Amino acid sequence: MAEAFGNSPRRDSNGRALLGGLALSDLVRSGSIRTPSYVYDLDAIAAGARELREAFGNESHLVAYAVKANTAGPVVRALAAQGCGADVVSGAELSVALACGVPPLSIVYNGVAKRDDEIDKALGAGILSIQIESVEEIVRVAARARALSLGRGARARISLRINPALDFEALETHANIATGHDAAKFGIAQDDLPRALEIIKASPEVELVGLGHHIGSQIPSVPAYRTAARTLFSLGVAVRAGGVSTLRFLDTGGGFGIDYGAGAVPKPGDYVRAALEERKAAEVDDTMLMVEPGRSMVAAHGVLVSRVVQTKVSTVRGTARRWLMIDAGMNDLIRPALYQARHRVVPLETNGASADFTATLWRVVGPVCESSDDFGVHALPDSPPEHVALLDAGAYGYVMSNQYNGRALPDEVFLRGGQIVTINRAKSQDDWVQERVAIQG
Ligand code: LLP
Repeated sequence: MAEAFGNSPRRDSNGRALLGGLALSDLVRSGSIRTPSYVYDLDAIAAGARELREAFGNESHLVAYAVKANTAGPVVRALAAQGCGADVVSGAELSVALACGVPPLSIVYNGVAKRDDEIDKALGAGILSIQIESVEEIVRVAARARALSLGRGARARISLRINPALDFEALETHANIATGHDAAKFGIAQDDLPRALEIIKASPEVELVGLGHHIGSQIPSVPAYRTAARTLFSLGVAVRAGGVSTLRFLDTGGGFGIDYGAGAVPKPGDYVRAALEERKAAEVDDTMLMVEPGRSMVAAHGVLVSRVVQTKVSTVRGTARRWLMIDAGMNDLIRPALYQARHRVVPLETNGASADFTATLWRVVGPVCESSDDFGVHALPDSPPEHVALLDAGAYGYVMSNQYNGRALPDEVFLRGGQIVTINRAKSQDDWVQERVAIQG
């Protein structure tokens, strides 16, 4: 479905798309930024984090930002400055979080196949918890703790990521990003929980400090999140009843949906309030409530700015086809190709055209030699704009970019206080050529 022409979060009276108070077209025209570039509004990211934390009121909580959504230093530092912790999924992400000032005791480490050196790094840094995703992993972490001699007094803090085995349909999200169903590789099946607890009891090197789950990403409504949270809290009650007295936190995961243009979704705080209610009802409100949002903290505050390279219009057997070919491709933003995701494509300037301008439907595509390098059909002016922005690209955009087809990575531009604070300029395509050719053999 196409949106009305001019659909954009905010425009000035001249119809110029704004981000962080700046007209994106000015930044491109003045040469301040190149295309394609991701542009992020750090003030909005910080404000969103404040709003989310307010939803917890005075309740003990931790917003562990899922660093995988956007690993850029300015973003992680901005969130750390708002008191957010971090959810990391690799030793490298752990290093980013620590270097950006996230306190170790506000970091949890998820992942189904952590390497020994990564486990060692987490234990050495003294993070809040290693989130265990299989019974086998408990044994591995205990062994690393023993090898590092953590066994004497200080025990390795672990938490169990439970797989709540939800009905797949209930998750209401794309199959590739649904994790809380029983065929997923993630988390410990509830049936395996007794076995996990036995191993923990028999392992003096580890201490069980939490239970958690993450049911999937882009969960568009609160009920599925609430149901899963209720299950988690009842497991918390059961685990305590089974003699575990060390539980400090319960973690209902991330996955808060955002509005990619298809319609309103709940606010991040709505998911939190539901989880708080369920925690109270289960009488486990002496534990800290943790959430692990990624997308909802950054997606809406980043856009991918791209230049229109050319159009292609042809009539095949009476059917007119119109393509708008831009200089950003699936290597820059892979979500449409991978998840059939839709990112709104809007002109940076409307050139005085009114909002009820009769728009033309253009199929917006990139330069990559793949049919799936396709951003979908969008309503844009008949006379195409020079530049466009792909909206809601602040999460899982740059972090999933690659150099397929010998393309340079996109630049990253960070805005704060109405100005550019820094630009991460990508290596050039020439550098890529040199690197490939320099491989000897
Ligand atoms: N916690 C865990 C254990 C996770 O695996 C994830 C995301 C999150 C938290 C954060 O979820 P969020 O709040 O961002 O929904 N590349 C995909 C999304 C993959 C999500 C992977 N795990 C996309 O572009 O839609």
